[in-house]
Amino acid sequence: MRTSFNWSIFLVGLMILLPSFSSIASLQLKTSQTYIIHMDHSQKPDHFSNHESWHQHIVNSLSSACEDDKQTFLYSYTHVMHGFSAKLTSCQLAELEKSPAHLTSYKESFGKMFTTHTPKFLGLNCGSGIWPTASFGKDVIIGIIDTGIWPESESFNDNGMSAVPARWKGKCENGTAFSPYLCNKKLIGARSFSKGLQAAGLNISTEFDFDSARDFMGHGTHTSSTAAGNYVYGASHFGYAKGVAKGIAPRAHLAMYKVLWGSDTEASAATDVLAGMDQAISDGVDIMSLSLGFDHSPLFEDVIAIASLSAIEKGIVVVCAAGNDGPGAGTIYNGAPWIATVGAGTMDRSYVATLELGNGMTFEGTSYFPTSASITDTPLYYASNDTKTSGCSVLKRDEVKGKVVLCDDSNLDLNGQMDAVTSAGAYGAIFLTESLFLDPEDYSIPGMLLPSKYAKIIKEYAISGNNTTVKSMRFVLTKTGTGRAPQVAYFSSRGPDPVTPSILKPDILAPGVDVLGAVRPDVPFMEAGNYDLVTDYALYSGTSMAAPHVAGVAALVKAVHRNWSPAAIRSAIITSATKTDNTQGTIRDQWNGDMGTPLEFGAGHVNPNRAMDPGVIYDIGPQDYIDFLCGLGYTSKQMSTILRTSQWSCENQTDLNYPSFIANFSNEATAMSDKHYARTVTNVGEDVSTYRAVLTVPEGMSVKLEPSIIKFTKKYEEQKFVLSIQVDKDSPKLNYGYLEWIDEHNHMVSSPIVVIRD
Ligand SMILES: *[C@@H]1O[C@H](CO)[C@@H](O)[C@H](O)[C@H]1NC(C)=O
Ligand SMILES: *[C@@H]1O[C@H](CO)[C@@H](O)[C@H](O)[C@H]1NC(C)=O
Ligand SMILES: *[C@@H]1O[C@H](CO)[C@@H](O)[C@H](O)[C@H]1NC(C)=O
Ligand SMILES: *[C@@H]1O[C@H](CO)[C@@H](O)[C@H](O)[C@H]1NC(C)=O
Ligand SMILES: *[C@@H]1O[C@H](CO)[C@@H](O)[C@H](O)[C@H]1NC(C)=O
Ligand SMILES: *[C@@H]1O[C@H](CO)[C@@H](O)[C@H](O)[C@H]1NC(C)=O
Ligand SMILES: *[C@@H]1O[C@H](CO)[C@@H](O)[C@H](O)[C@H]1NC(C)=O
Repeated sequence: MRTSFNWSIFLVGLMILLPSFSSIASLQLKTSQTYIIHMDHSQKPDHFSNHESWHQHIVNSLSSACEDDKQTFLYSYTHVMHGFSAKLTSCQLAELEKSPAHLTSYKESFGKMFTTHTPKFLGLNCGSGIWPTASFGKDVIIGIIDTGIWPESESFNDNGMSAVPARWKGKCENGTAFSPYLCNKKLIGARSFSKGLQAAGLNISTEFDFDSARDFMGHGTHTSSTAAGNYVYGASHFGYAKGVAKGIAPRAHLAMYKVLWGSDTEASAATDVLAGMDQAISDGVDIMSLSLGFDHSPLFEDVIAIASLSAIEKGIVVVCAAGNDGPGAGTIYNGAPWIATVGAGTMDRSYVATLELGNGMTFEGTSYFPTSASITDTPLYYASNDTKTSGCSVLKRDEVKGKVVLCDDSNLDLNGQMDAVTSAGAYGAIFLTESLFLDPEDYSIPGMLLPSKYAKIIKEYAISGNNTTVKSMRFVLTKTGTGRAPQVAYFSSRGPDPVTPSILKPDILAPGVDVLGAVRPDVPFMEAGNYDLVTDYALYSGTSMAAPHVAGVAALVKAVHRNWSPAAIRSAIITSATKTDNTQGTIRDQWNGDMGTPLEFGAGHVNPNRAMDPGVIYDIGPQDYIDFLCGLGYTSKQMSTILRTSQWSCENQTDLNYPSFIANFSNEATAMSDKHYARTVTNVGEDVSTYRAVLTVPEGMSVKLEPSIIKFTKKYEEQKFVLSIQVDKDSPKLNYGYLEWIDEHNHMVSSPIVVIRD
């Protein structure tokens, strides 16, 4: 079933990565290879004034030992890790590894992208709630690690913006088609990082990308506008989703760090991602948003995890897309316990076309056809799949020209059917299908999707005579409040996290399907008829689109609570999430319509207004993360690699103070014994409050709390509790419930409790 839709195309072609990258990799010199090299910083000889000169010296001295190609120094890293990247031969690497200051080294890798209604759907409004309280994100700086930005987009105008914060150390770099003058009070920084890709043999030419922070693909422009775009009136996707486009934190500042390159060979080198994140930390961003990921690896080789840990130690919230590898289980990316990992949900909005047949019957289906072309009194042609000349795959041009073709072809995916009717010269098309997934840019002729449940009645009409017609078809209709929403987007990656399964991931769900955002306006978005169509705003889908929503919410929470740690801000977002959809039922899985679980939607759908005032938070400090890492059984070199110091110690190996619970009862030996989870909650609400635990637990699973009433007498007071889970022998393989702490001031602090028995 998964192969029947080309989902990568639905994601605006943003999933292309390692396979296409092999063409670049093969160009590189056989003898040398880029490495990321972690060093023990404490061994830097004093006569080097800084780490960079030490790193350069180390690399320069390698050539004398090996009579090889010249080595190339790429980056020296300051914050994200202690070490550097360089292109070395195996002899040079072996030489380097002999140094007592050498910790670990691993090869360059290449990552992939996880490709105006939104604010209203999230309950944001100008008069009350988090928007006015947070002054719409004023003075917060969001760093976006992405494909660059289109600075002239209306979303990045600086009307109404406050001055650039004095603490800001970033800049706007000059480069191809990008001048420092393009920055303003909205876009306050723009830099690009490509040494790693270039070392892998990639030349940045104008057909391939701009050698600057300018966005070639439109992806970074889209994510930036979602997080913090300014108000733009009358934005739409060819008339669909028309309204005021605005980011979640419309008064926050933006800084772009371009690390994703190319159009044919989308690629992002680990060395460049590290450099971009290093610079973002130096420049002073408050929030970092990443809509990209690398193949799974342990935390000590995961560059995003490593760089994020130093970011959060400096108080920077790191928000990452969870990936688009759903609906399979265990497909999460960026699941490190210090990252906010975001899955994608649908919205309560649909794009429709209407159909009236010659006999007066009317239907409503899905369409993104980009103009309001109306079709009237046009012959209907039924491409029956039961005849010999079956289906839409074998249409005869002279038979379908000028007609609306009715396709009922289970042998061909929707893309293929659309291609077939378009190339046969049909005037319009109706597709009977169970699937609702055809990419917006694939509506090359006026077409609509109709659920198969109408197949019988429409086909009856279609074969009823020689003169069947379509009386009318109308396009560019947007409906809100339609159907169950949010649902977990079927492509959204799901838990458990393959690298650290003891932490429940994803953390949260945010809009990631048909998100309207700014795009590159000067290249065609799609082709329809003989025309190339451009647009300033377009509907994109992917967890790439979900992450910047949460980055925007984190900016708003940060604007209200300047001194909160990244873990506190994430805790507020997680424990205030909405667990139900707009029908008050459990959030469904778009894939099969079944009820979702926290492995799909985490704590639920992000709810910004409640995140502002969570009542209590589950805070986590740097030592807690060290203690967590201590429990993973890494070697001391691996630990030093992640922690950037050899001066760490394992203290109390209790559980991480995470605002969610996941228990694995599969291990035979301990299967039936209780599992205990210690947590500490910090009061951030009223001074005096009493929280009572409310447990919602299904059959087969029992949960106890000690204590089950928590009293606070002042703000920032901490209280501890222990949650114990027990399961029945014959309970379901996956079971879950909720712990809610409820006080007298209307706070509800909710945590999912997931139990797995393989
Ligand atoms: C800015 O970059 C462009 C394109 O690379 C170059 O032609 C121009 O000389 C640069 N200007 C400055 C001031 O560096
Ligand atoms: C890239 O540029 C270098 C130097 O200009 C050249 O030697 C190399 O062949 C180019 N590589 C590709 C893939 O075009
Ligand atoms: C024709 O379509 C129907 C319903 O979509 C399907 O059940 C049937 O298998 C199809 N027949 C062929 C030959 O593809
Ligand atoms: C359609 O037209 C043909 C010849 O023009 C005729 O033989 C046939 O019976 C007609 N079919 C129907 C369903 O009217
Ligand atoms: C089909 O339409 C033509 C012309 O409009 C008419 O002459 C003919 O009778 C119609 N045939 C049927 C079967 O309705
Ligand atoms: C570790 O536990 C001991 C005893 O419970 C406590 O005194 C100490 O503060 C804890 N250390 C940390 C870092 O939590
Ligand atoms: C649960 O534990 C079992 C046995 O230890 C292990 O094989 C399995 O991979 C674990 N599952 C998860 C999701 O952690």
